Amino acid sequence: MQIEINSEHEQVILATRSFAKSQLENDLTGHDWWHIHRVVQMANHLAHEENANVFICIMTALLHDVADEKLNESKEVGLSKVRHWLDEQPITKVEKEHILEIISTMSYNAGINSPMSTLEGQVVQDADRLDAIGAIAIARTFLYAGWKGHPIHDPQLSPRRTMTPEQYRNEKSSAINHFHEKLLKLKNLINTKSARRIAEERHTYMEDYVKRFYREWAGEL
Ligand code: ADP
Ligand code: NI
Repeated sequence: MQIEINSEHEQVILATRSFAKSQLENDLTGHDWWHIHRVVQMANHLAHEENANVFICIMTALLHDVADEKLNESKEVGLSKVRHWLDEQPITKVEKEHILEIISTMSYNAGINSPMSTLEGQVVQDADRLDAIGAIAIARTFLYAGWKGHPIHDPQLSPRRTMTPEQYRNEKSSAINHFHEKLLKLKNLINTKSARRIAEERHTYMEDYVKRFYREWAGEL
């Protein structure tokens, strides 16, 4: 069911791009504009591969972090910001509700959320997760840890393999523990075949990185 983007859709995408950019430009939590840019590129690629609705995938990728809890008073406040924006766009009610439904359910949330209910949701979630696996993901993780005041590593802080969403959000961790607590688990949570191929390769790279990190930490020459 490939729906091609028409010129009206293109205008909406351009305007939404500027809106998302203005909202996320100064972010230091790893949800900055360039993260959005990468997720949009990847969502566009995966949408074509998987025959998903490209317009919905691009719009959702553009807006998915505007509502993030870290950047708003609450998730509800964030979501209403997105809803207000969409209210002003010449799109159908069905399109609007689809975008909002994906954004409100796609977050990692310590891995406990239900699977995405539509193909477009699966595509955008995969695109977001692929940005959390691989070389750029390593950089984002250390940036985020710095922003949170977490160390790169603390041998006394062991990684927790299972965490509740509250622990995941609030407890002190380290950048290197975050690989065990989330990033190395993502490969098995990927929805689509096209994304899985990319995830496998990036996962191996990240695994090698973590092994090497511990070797250097142990003083291996
Ligand atoms: P999502 O956007 O899927 O809800 P998060 O906002 O929890 O996921 O995480 C987005 C990215 O921020 C992660 O992929 C990771 O790079 C970074 N990040 C989140 N939490 C931590 C943490 N505790 N330590 C280091 N990096 C983190
Ligand atoms: Ni994101």
